Amino acid sequence: MRYPSHLFISLMFAIALGAPTQAQELPDVAYLDGTFVLSAAPGDDEPPMGKLLVSAPLQLISQDGDWFQVSMQGWTQAGAERIIYAAPGIRVLHAVLSKSAVETLVFSEKTEDPDTFLIWTKTELQGWVNAPDLKPGLQDIWARAEPLFAKRCTACHQRRIPHHYTANQWTSHLKVMGPRTGLPKDDQFLIRAYLQYHAKDANRLGSAIVR
Ligand code: HEC
Repeated sequence: MRYPSHLFISLMFAIALGAPTQAQELPDVAYLDGTFVLSAAPGDDEPPMGKLLVSAPLQLISQDGDWFQVSMQGWTQAGAERIIYAAPGIRVLHAVLSKSAVETLVFSEKTEDPDTFLIWTKTELQGWVNAPDLKPGLQDIWARAEPLFAKRCTACHQRRIPHHYTANQWTSHLKVMGPRTGLPKDDQFLIRAYLQYHAKDANRLGSAIVR
């Protein structure tokens, strides 16, 4: 069977141009500057799936007004899938989910943490965020974290050196030191992320990381 030539020409034209989609106009990966609620669909009436935290790397899938459909890759530990971390065994917190949201996660490769022998699974999360504050690189986020760390973490003692500790040690220290700063939780999370991404083992956080 032969197709009419005008159909063939318009088909070739469409292939050459590529199908226009909204996602192509959005940057590939952007980093969340703050804590944001994650929803299953655009609109406030949906029960939240959970929250995304500062420095979470988001891929933008589509946009609907102020709402952005996003995808995030991270790692979870078997039995504790409600918490998504940046890398296997490195507890840089990127998402905290409700129980029901765990059912929407897509799991792929598994790896063993050489230090603890715990099994970690690569995990993909999708959802919608309302008017997220997104930055093209982590550097833009650290620009806000550095002065906070320099000022608020030196009130009682000398400035500690970020790479003298591991990312997980910073998790423990910030549990105690964070509240001592008297800063709002979000600022404590920001300082924690900054210190973790500049920690002794920050290279294990992945090649996409710009320090
Ligand atoms: C209100 C005072 C105060 C503030 C503010 C404070 N610290 Fe401390 N920090 C202490 C004291 C006191 C110690 C000694 C150990 C202890 O009491 O836990 C300490 C110890 C530490 C240690 C060493 C712990 C160890 O066992 O090696 C680190 C690291 C640290 N602080 C980091 C920070 C960071 C980061 C911040 C800002 C988020 C901060 N501190 C803010 C009082 C403070």
